[in-house]
Amino acid sequence: MPFRFFICLCYHQKEREKGMGRLQNSMKGRPGKCLVSKAQIDALVCRLAKEISDDYKQRVSIEEPLLLVGILKGAVIFMSDLARALTIPAAMDFMAVSSYGASTTSSGIVRILHDLDTSLENRHVLVVEDIVDTGLTLNYLREHLGARQPKDLRIVSLLDKPERRLTDVTIDYVGMEIPDEFVVGYGLDWDEKFRNLPCVRVLE
Ligand code: IMP
Ligand code: MG
Repeated sequence: MPFRFFICLCYHQKEREKGMGRLQNSMKGRPGKCLVSKAQIDALVCRLAKEISDDYKQRVSIEEPLLLVGILKGAVIFMSDLARALTIPAAMDFMAVSSYGASTTSSGIVRILHDLDTSLENRHVLVVEDIVDTGLTLNYLREHLGARQPKDLRIVSLLDKPERRLTDVTIDYVGMEIPDEFVVGYGLDWDEKFRNLPCVRVLE
């Protein structure tokens, strides 16, 4: 692993620990003000689905559909809405990942808890994420999935917190940028709670 990347991982782990400490010490762990309403989410999903459908309509078919790769568990609600709003043929698969602390691995930052059932070889692949924070998870996924020889690999994320970025990562389709707040709802959790809220709320 390149040394600069290793330093980045250590920093990432420290930031996560600091973040969790901050949440545990001063927060009630309750959903607070609504940051993205249900109506706003619907409009974002609609816009993203149109952009994606327009971009892929000449390249995919019923025989060769776009493969949506949902990152569990956060992206599951967004992906189910996005998939139904697309006007092109699409197939779905899921992957579960968890961030690794730098001290517990020597090979990377992400542990694959559940891998895809589908081969990516020669497929049009769109990774579906709930939110991009530091960018380290997506960076890893782009490299790791890119090595499986898809025809092309793009990323869509409903939300983006650019202020927290620790690494450059290209997100091909972004629903909305949000400030550096910890948010829950519409698939996003805190301690496995609040995923089923219909809108995105700031954790208090
Ligand atoms: P990254 O590697 O730091 O970009 O981590 C991204 C992952 O962390 C997302 O896919 C989420 O699962 C989780 N995450 C980041 N920010 C939030 C948040 O505000 N609320 C809930 N989960 C978050
Ligand atoms: Mg996620």
